[in-house]
Amino acid sequence: MVRPVLGAALVLTALPTARAAAPAFMPLPVKIEVRTGSLPIDSSFTIGTSGCADPRVSAAAGRITQRILRQTGLPLMGGTVVKLAVECAARGNDYPALGEDESYTLDVAPDRAVLRAPAGVGALRGLETFVQAIVPGAAGFEVPAMRIEDRPRFPWRGLMIDSSRHWMPVELIERNLDAMAAVKLNVLHWHLSDDQGFRVESKRFPRLAELGSDGFYYTQDQLREVVEYARQRGIRVIPEFDIPGHTQSWFPGYPELASTPAQYTIGRTWGIYYPVMDPTREETYTFLDGFLSEMAALFPDPYFHIGGDEVNPKEWNESARITAFIKDHNLAGPEGLQAYFNQRVSKILDKNRKIMVGWDEVLHPDLPQATVIQSWRGNAALADAARKGHRGLLSWGYYLDHLRPASYHYSVDPLGGPAAQLSAADAARILGGEACMWAEYVNAETVESRIWPRMAVIAERFWSPQETVDVASMYDRMAVVSRTLEWTGVRHRANYGPMLDRLTGGRPAEPLRVLAAASEAQGLGPRARAGKYTSLVPLNRFVDAARPESETVRALELAAARFVKNPVAGEDAAFLREQFTQWAANDARFQPLAENNAFLAELKPLSNDLSLLGRAGLRLLAAIEGKQKLPADFLDRHKKEMTRLARPQAEVILAAFRPVKVLLDAAE
Ligand code: ACM
Repeated sequence: MVRPVLGAALVLTALPTARAAAPAFMPLPVKIEVRTGSLPIDSSFTIGTSGCADPRVSAAAGRITQRILRQTGLPLMGGTVVKLAVECAARGNDYPALGEDESYTLDVAPDRAVLRAPAGVGALRGLETFVQAIVPGAAGFEVPAMRIEDRPRFPWRGLMIDSSRHWMPVELIERNLDAMAAVKLNVLHWHLSDDQGFRVESKRFPRLAELGSDGFYYTQDQLREVVEYARQRGIRVIPEFDIPGHTQSWFPGYPELASTPAQYTIGRTWGIYYPVMDPTREETYTFLDGFLSEMAALFPDPYFHIGGDEVNPKEWNESARITAFIKDHNLAGPEGLQAYFNQRVSKILDKNRKIMVGWDEVLHPDLPQATVIQSWRGNAALADAARKGHRGLLSWGYYLDHLRPASYHYSVDPLGGPAAQLSAADAARILGGEACMWAEYVNAETVESRIWPRMAVIAERFWSPQETVDVASMYDRMAVVSRTLEWTGVRHRANYGPMLDRLTGGRPAEPLRVLAAASEAQGLGPRARAGKYTSLVPLNRFVDAARPESETVRALELAAARFVKNPVAGEDAAFLREQFTQWAANDARFQPLAENNAFLAELKPLSNDLSLLGRAGLRLLAAIEGKQKLPADFLDRHKKEMTRLARPQAEVILAAFRPVKVLLDAAE
């Protein structure tokens, strides 16, 4: 059962909506031809490899077999007949390289599947497609017969994780690497230092971690372990040490690096700090030479990120010594000084055979052309860098910490907006993109629920053909992939229930769950405006448990939209009525739970509003069904309520207002 949905690049696309058990691929492969029959997956399932001299492929086959076991509950016995044959034409690189051939084909027939790849890394990608293709069938688990041809659109498909602002343990990084591999991402950009934490052991400069990390840092052995873990999965690791701004955590151990002599402590607040490195002292470069050379040896990737964003020039402008240096060296103000600094750092990286990567702000006419520009400011900034001959990455539009809906991220294209006007030669410099998980408002307990499943949607944007833009198909597949991703080990769904239970002190949390399913957590902006956070404030409230996007509310919005077009007493009306009835009754159950509970007290108005929405929804449903006119004062009053409810309360949005608003607009 198939229906053609996408652009000319695709032949046919199987969708989960077309048949209950059709595979939900994410990223969507370039080309899928569905054939008849299916390959049964049973206890005799075995993967065989041939020509794959790359030991990563057999290791991945072992892991995939374990994953199939988790996914199907089958006691895999290791049969003697190969059911999935993996054939590599060549070994490929040992360490994943930018632009290497990641393509593969997968032919699934009723007796056997064959995965062919030019190199080991393509086999790794194809194995993930195979495991996504396993579905429950009438006779047990199976893979529908089909032929897939697949290759990535962009060679650089990344996730940036900020381990500085909140500590992210090694095992968390590793399980996220498994999830990244599952959606064919190939770069972990690891933000390892910032004002609030220096997270890496340096043997040359031990006070960096000793005094800059509260004891939470990665040892060099752990760094090597993560790099190897990523390599096994065909993922490159790019470290970022953000300089010369965002550097306060360097200064408790080495205050001489700072522009203003002082005694420094680790930053505890969020934002752009005044303290920045001193680019005028030769000793700064001696230090950076030692430190960056030490780090360069730990990270085999040829690319190395030096940050360079949000440098506050205040201390440079206020220092007579630094302003004199700027004048003596004919530099164009603080920007010129940062460009001078970047050139010096670039020479250090050159010596270590590393290519520099930096955020938008490093772009300057004097910057070596090889420097890769990562744009957090937008497609226009990225296009500008490409026109100036720099290769670039898009991160604007992929800020996971803003907690925007998946559809928003899906709509952003590395070659969209002004970048669509680039010549073919300039456009070819855009290597892809990276999603960013900044960690002001996440910790090890919550970060995965803010990365996944939306990261999978961005991974599709980076991998699949540009014409892959069907939002309904994306949401259908994301819902499935969100659940299957947990089988890779990532814990983005695992903490939700326990965090809600914690808010009630262990009392039955059902009314709180109803409220949480109707709410959406707010991101960086609204949380910053709440004005109460530092790195020492626990992230243990309702907003931290609530999801960025409510699946329940989305389903209700779709049902409401269908219902107003065809207002009959069908499935949609029944679904809406059931939910509205639950909401209407929920506040009476919630309020006793909230007595003498500081965590729940802030939610009392929210809960009251949910019941208001439930009652309004029921009245609207009945009126639209019965073709009755509602009194003008009811409509006026609720229109005002919708405006009010669109604003955050307790740092969440009561998303439940949206389906009710669909009915209200129709009733008007
Ligand atoms: C950034 O968001 N300052 C890179």
